[in-house]
Amino acid sequence: MEFPFDINQIFTERISFLDQNLVADRWTARRPDLQANLATVIDELGRASAKAQQLTAAVTSASKLQSQRHQLYLLKDGECSGGRGAVVGFLKVGHKKLFLLDRHGVHVEAEPLCVLDFYIAENLQRHGYGLELFDFMLQHKNVEPGRMAYDRPSPKLLSFLEKHYSLTQNVPQVNNFVVFEDFFFNRAGSA
Ligand code: ACO
Repeated sequence: MEFPFDINQIFTERISFLDQNLVADRWTARRPDLQANLATVIDELGRASAKAQQLTAAVTSASKLQSQRHQLYLLKDGECSGGRGAVVGFLKVGHKKLFLLDRHGVHVEAEPLCVLDFYIAENLQRHGYGLELFDFMLQHKNVEPGRMAYDRPSPKLLSFLEKHYSLTQNVPQVNNFVVFEDFFFNRAGSA
């Protein structure tokens, strides 16, 4: 995904971590012009992800990121676009208080780390970039994919989780979240 400004100036690392402060690093924090471009990138990514999932409204935007306590990992390719770089995709996570059912139908209250939005540019999908981003997040958060919850996962995400993390057995829920059997394993208060 290309932009009419220098991506490498905003995002110095291959994978950037953004929270509600919306700063990629100390350098962008002092530059309102770079901050504005960063917001443009997040908004554009959010729109592209919504379109790919056929959602009527974007679940990710710069203003939403600022108002919610969610966190976003952004992957760039610094080499392309004549050295200006391009954005490959993003992964948004955050903790949510959920009321879940274990495999015996017993209610379990938990506040797991959830995958809330995930998008790789159309022409770059199925090249391993999603895995690179997801693995980075798992290490950064020190969490297992089976211990996470997935908000309304698309068929592509379900296929991704099965292929890379062997997550196949989801436990039926009454909300939009998907959790797998590992989620309840050794969890206090659940069989
Ligand atoms: N059709 C089916 N499965 C797919 C597709 C596709 N078009 N694209 C990726 N996958 C799955 C498959 O399991 C694939 O393995 P395969 O090629 O052997 O079948 C695997 O992902 C490939 O792994 P990566 O290359 O690491 O994944 P990728 O870089 O494509 O990223 C992602 C995966 C983020 C799901 C990407 O395909 C995408 O952006 N899809 C559109 C948006 C989307 O559906 N996002 C998830 C929303 S739900 C949520 O965020 C809670």
